Amino acid sequence: LNNGLALTPPMGWMHWQRFRCVVDCTAYPDDCVSEKLFRDMADRMVADGYKDAGYEYVIIDDCWASKERTTHNKLQPDPERFPSGIKALSDYVHEKGLKFGIYADYGTQTCAGYPGSIEYLESDAQTFADWGVDYLKLDGCHSEVLTMEIGYGLMGRYLNETGRPIVYSCSWPAYQEPIGIQANYARLAEVCNLWRNWDDIDDAWVNVTSILKWFSDNQDRIANYSGPGHWNDPDMLIIGNYGLSYEQAKAQMAIWAIMAAPLIMSVDLRTIEPKFRDILLNKDVIKINQDPKGIQGKLVLTKDKIDIWTKPINPVIDNQTSIAIGLLSHRVDGYPYRLNFTLSDLNLDNKSGYIIKDIYENSTVVEIAKPDNTVFIKIKPSGGVLLTATPLNPVNVQKV
Ligand code: GLA
Repeated sequence: LNNGLALTPPMGWMHWQRFRCVVDCTAYPDDCVSEKLFRDMADRMVADGYKDAGYEYVIIDDCWASKERTTHNKLQPDPERFPSGIKALSDYVHEKGLKFGIYADYGTQTCAGYPGSIEYLESDAQTFADWGVDYLKLDGCHSEVLTMEIGYGLMGRYLNETGRPIVYSCSWPAYQEPIGIQANYARLAEVCNLWRNWDDIDDAWVNVTSILKWFSDNQDRIANYSGPGHWNDPDMLIIGNYGLSYEQAKAQMAIWAIMAAPLIMSVDLRTIEPKFRDILLNKDVIKINQDPKGIQGKLVLTKDKIDIWTKPINPVIDNQTSIAIGLLSHRVDGYPYRLNFTLSDLNLDNKSGYIIKDIYENSTVVEIAKPDNTVFIKIKPSGGVLLTATPLNPVNVQKV
């Protein structure tokens, strides 16, 4: 969507994966979907370095609303859990220098059964603008799938007509693709800043790998529609929760970076362990994700049960682009497996060679390799490694 927003993949925090539809604030005072939760997260995003690292949007997902609209048919928040109202919460987030996002649904009800927007698209768009919303996730439960392409376009127009810049996150492929309809990606890129393509992520490694399988199986059809202003969205980062090991967390972050995926965390930032926080805050990984070219990387090789993904990034040296290389291991035999491959296996053919760096190991130089040299990389069980290969030219060959 050409609205000047999301020129790199959006980064932020969204409550759904970690906090779901917890509405009982007595039983779950720290977990329930309430204004306190979002204030706490905004506080942590600023205090713990997430904002400085580029995470910007604090996004409310489902279950924020009252079950009833107002007498004027406006959406309103649950009065017990959001006693100060949404505008006050959005002001709080803005005062922290962050941006504020919210969730609605294109159908008659949200996925969790809260009021849907189908009959009120225009007035809901205005309500969101009045509240200072900067990002809208418009879900698609309880709706007519075949009307989505047009209906989401209409909502996009209403958002635009409010005059407020609002990142527009669509969900219609996630409702079409699973029932065998190929979504219209050209239209998505015109109408939306990002869109959920496929299944929801839950808190387990199998969700990461099954989502990635769908993305790699469909990469030739969808990847070219990602770029500045319009992104495929494989769903939230689950790093720091209960389901992923440290190695698996590095793998999710690596491949999300390669895919130019939105980096939307869903974790309790108040209690996250430092080692997981460090993954989310890794500046070099984020830089690969946020590369201004905005190219969605692809799976190029699977060898010894290890997937290798590549993504062209800056810098371009002598017309040769640098490449980020993400490795994800499906191996479960317990030692760090030594994989070998050549850069020409990955379609890298700069004859002078490449400097290969390991990003999680503080960008240390692994080696300098020509396209046909064998490269050895150790990767732990269900682990992730992220490399960059920067082309050498005859001049800087002599310098290294
Ligand atoms: C759908 C979406 C999720 C989340 C829930 C909320 O399942 O795909 O991301 O928004 O609805 O109910």
